[in-house]
Amino acid sequence: MGADLIVGIQWGDEGKGKIVDLLAQNYDVVCRYQGGHNAGHTIVVDGKSVALHLIPSGILNPKAVNIIGNGVVVSPEALLKEMEQFEDLEGRLLISDKAHLIFKYHEEIDKAKERLRGKNAIGTTGRGIGPAYSDKVSRQGHRIGELKDIDRLTQKIMDYFATNRPYFEALGVATPDERTLKKELERYQKALLPYVVDATGYIWDRLQDGQSKILLEGAQGTMLDIDHGTYPYVTSSNTIAAGACTGLGLAPKDIGKVIGIAKAYCTRVGNGPFPTEDHGPEGERLRRQGHEFGTTTGRPRRCGWFDAVAAAYACRINGCDEMALMKLDVLDGFEKIKVAVAYEYEGDRIDYVPSDLENVKPIYEEFEGWSSVVGARSWDQLPQEAKRYIEALEDLVKTPIAIVSTSPDREDTIIRKRI
Ligand code: IMP
Repeated sequence: MGADLIVGIQWGDEGKGKIVDLLAQNYDVVCRYQGGHNAGHTIVVDGKSVALHLIPSGILNPKAVNIIGNGVVVSPEALLKEMEQFEDLEGRLLISDKAHLIFKYHEEIDKAKERLRGKNAIGTTGRGIGPAYSDKVSRQGHRIGELKDIDRLTQKIMDYFATNRPYFEALGVATPDERTLKKELERYQKALLPYVVDATGYIWDRLQDGQSKILLEGAQGTMLDIDHGTYPYVTSSNTIAAGACTGLGLAPKDIGKVIGIAKAYCTRVGNGPFPTEDHGPEGERLRRQGHEFGTTTGRPRRCGWFDAVAAAYACRINGCDEMALMKLDVLDGFEKIKVAVAYEYEGDRIDYVPSDLENVKPIYEEFEGWSSVVGARSWDQLPQEAKRYIEALEDLVKTPIAIVSTSPDREDTIIRKRI
């Protein structure tokens, strides 16, 4: 039995949280494989709202084991704050000893560089994600397993500051005080080390036992992938399905079903190309009806129409077997609904995603709107126009839509095909 995978096929914020939460009830192990506390969603369970940034959504299933994989960058401060929401994490949360650490100085570097970029800023979440991954790739990062030897880790961090002094001085990032740093690391050691394991070995065992159902939870979305997204306006990890292999230590053949998550329209936070962005009243209406403000930073999201070209590209790159279409109810009341079915690029009509996506213009097809789908729980409850819209997206993206979500509520979900 392979591990099933959930991946965002737009620019993040597709509503993966609701689907993972829904599916996590049926899985024994839920794993995060990339990103950090730049991701985030709030899940309401029994009237209590739980904010998750790093901990996989399986934490709400008392029987599931949750893994933070080696591909994730972990801010100990953010993780500890998140852990405070739960009382019973022992044995239910495991952190890969190879996951890299994010420190306060990563956040300071992130913000300083964004300031220096001025009008070319990426619009990062300011959480230190890029600098932490940069340190990892340039072989000067620090892994969570290193918390085992605080003296050594403190020395390594002080050496790192000494080596990079001119760079930090230019950015205005201060060298930490050694004693304060050591105390901080000791606190992390005490609080986090009990959860640190060889996560890859653990998942291999669970895969091998033939009994366990494993779910892999992607963060952000395909169009924010460091290699295949709208570079440089991307996040610093491989958000696509392939990232689960490197981010957990799995082989491609360990992956089972891949489910792509998309909203019934598109949003993006931060800068960078977004062909179907609507700057007019309809974009504003999508933002208002969809409550499109970032969970992590509170920033208003840019809003626009479903981009079937980008979604088809994303489904291909991830090998999506099925899609879940989220927030269909946000389109309620629109008279006409637009979908980008192709792009105009260098004078031609194209149906692929070029690497300079900022130079395309969307070619739209219009669909009839409907009055309301909110709260629909079966296919039969949907108006004809909504059914036509969903079926058209399936044809354009060449991937079946197995799940349709019609409100934030767990129950308001149409399961067309059991995953
Ligand atoms: P970073 O990941 O903080 O470096 O930000 C890089 C880009 O990815 C920015 O455009 C962010 O807005 C975007 N981004 C990062 N995390 C998320 C997310 O969870 N949802 C949507 N966009 C994100």
